[in-house]
Amino acid sequence: MIIDLLSREHRNIEKLLLVLEQELAVFEREEQPDYEVVWAVICYFQVYPELYHHPQEEMVFKKLSARDPVAAADIGDLAAEHRAGAERLRRVVQAVESVLKNPDVLRHTVDDMIHDFIAHERRHIAMEERNFFPAAIKVLQPQDWAEIASTLTDQKDPLFSESVEERFDVVRKHILELEQEAEAERGLPDAAGNADEGRERSLPAHGRFRC
Ligand SMILES: [Fe+2]
Ligand SMILES: [Fe+2]
Repeated sequence: MIIDLLSREHRNIEKLLLVLEQELAVFEREEQPDYEVVWAVICYFQVYPELYHHPQEEMVFKKLSARDPVAAADIGDLAAEHRAGAERLRRVVQAVESVLKNPDVLRHTVDDMIHDFIAHERRHIAMEERNFFPAAIKVLQPQDWAEIASTLTDQKDPLFSESVEERFDVVRKHILELEQEAEAERGLPDAAGNADEGRERSLPAHGRFRC
């Protein structure tokens, strides 16, 4: 069922928010976060929710608006919330790029922006699971779900397919492995007994990220 898939994706998104939060904690200790991990998480958020998760939710929300306009109005403007999330992510990208170009940039501003992004994403997921998904389950009819499912799979570039899901499973697994590696390296002293100061390879030389 579509709601089960969306909920499962929320769990995956939460794992990546936790990774971002862990790297932010490193930044807050005035140490160097693993920018490869940070950027991989940002890229994931730029692609997966934007192109797959949000369009699916917005299709469900459209059906909910038609079946129960009051419930939909209570939830608010879902598409606008998604756009605001994308804007917060853009600010995170700019903040990370600026700290790479100029380490003296106001660190607490960068810190605030990333915290803000993480907090809003968590609140958004909680709202959807508390209000939106139960409302949709309650009022959408079997033909609504069938129509959504066929729209999702019936396109040249489907919004849902096994292969899309599998590709993102691989990306998430890779990010979680990178984070494990980064955490392990941070905790391990080198042969001379010095703590690892971070992986230089994780810094883009030009200070700009590309997904
Ligand atoms: Fe959403
Ligand atoms: Fe969602």
